[in-house]
Amino acid sequence: MTKVINKVVEDLISEFTEVRKLTDDLFKTLSIEDAVIQSDPFGSPPNWHIAHVTWFFHKILLKYGQKLNLEKINLDYLNSYYQKFEKILPKNDRGRFPRPTVSESLQYRKYLDKKVLLFLEKIDEGSNSLTKEIQYDLQLANQHEMQHQELMIYDFQNYFERFPDSNDNYCPFKINDNFDKQAQNKKHPKEMVKIPGGIFDIGFYGDGFSYDNELPEHKVYLYPYEIDSTPVSNGDFIKFIEEDGYERYEYWLADGWDVVQEFKWNSPLYWFKIDDVWMKKDFFGTLAINPYEPVINVSYYEADAYARWAKKRLPTEAEWEKAASWNEDLERKTRYPWGNEIRPTQEHANLLESFLWKPALCGSYEKGKSFYGCYQMIGDVWEWTSSEYSLYPGFKSRFSEYTDKWAINQKVLRGGSFATPRRQIRNSYRNYFKPHERIQFSGFRCAK
Ligand SMILES: [Fe+2]
Repeated sequence: MTKVINKVVEDLISEFTEVRKLTDDLFKTLSIEDAVIQSDPFGSPPNWHIAHVTWFFHKILLKYGQKLNLEKINLDYLNSYYQKFEKILPKNDRGRFPRPTVSESLQYRKYLDKKVLLFLEKIDEGSNSLTKEIQYDLQLANQHEMQHQELMIYDFQNYFERFPDSNDNYCPFKINDNFDKQAQNKKHPKEMVKIPGGIFDIGFYGDGFSYDNELPEHKVYLYPYEIDSTPVSNGDFIKFIEEDGYERYEYWLADGWDVVQEFKWNSPLYWFKIDDVWMKKDFFGTLAINPYEPVINVSYYEADAYARWAKKRLPTEAEWEKAASWNEDLERKTRYPWGNEIRPTQEHANLLESFLWKPALCGSYEKGKSFYGCYQMIGDVWEWTSSEYSLYPGFKSRFSEYTDKWAINQKVLRGGSFATPRRQIRNSYRNYFKPHERIQFSGFRCAK
């Protein structure tokens, strides 16, 4: 008799296996010395990331009564911020307590891998039933690990940048050799596209996973607006710098100006000048800034100041989402700018699995553009919006302390970056950071 495999469980198993392997692949090229350093209070040691995401699965299994035998692992080190799970090691201290050790973390991962798969197989055999809650929690744990894959890549950039030797760098397990043959546009379109106003339904609609903060879908009113067809390029941002953008208070919000003064910002994070050429060390070594790539590692304050200098503004998240998702011909929203059904591929967007390890040129990915003609809304760089991160009217938490506690003093970013896993992103996805933060791969496009 052929066993009928529960499709939902099968998808959970394959996503889990894929996600866990990718984390291992990202981690495996690090030396132990590099794996335990916390390069910045904003970030975390890679070893902490790989153990913490495992702890998250651990907590889910405990919630559903699974027995785990793990005497050597002190779980208190691995709780990021969940008050409901009691003891928390302050974030600043993660680098001071390299526990579990790297080898213990790797063993912990293997042990939990077996336990999660066993739990899912038992469900598949019918001895447990797959409730909506179990399904959501396990999907959430997969998505959580994907988020940490991206955070880990921010940390790699931030950590290896400090070594002046260009070759002393993070070594990706895989780089796409076809980089130059990718769907890169050499024409560099720069126009703005016009988008009609009216009522727009913001938020997630359809099947599949979404975070609770993308819900409920609800109506907002938009006035007609224009939005850049591509993210702002390094070349354009350099013009802002050269016109003394960082020195003129008139462009800056008061809080942003204070940060610029205090930390003496004069360019995006990681930039420095050699012989009048802006340079940066990225995953390919120390190279001149490419004027045709999207600007990246800028704070909200810098994005907002640039927009004011350019006599534009940042879009609201509703404006961004409509530009990405509304299809006038179909009279409905789509999950991705290019449509509903096709998951991101290397022809549509530059995401982690493209393994380019940097943003593609502005105006790339013709196949990925939105109905209104906006390029790269998914992938390449996260885009700051002017919207405060707040919970949508009627919000219901599906996992307390995950998305709900952070809805204060943060700005929404949309669209994902070259380090965002492809299963993570869609038009309705809401990321959020504090306005001064810029270790994340954030850029922006303007509106007016
Ligand atoms: Fe986390």
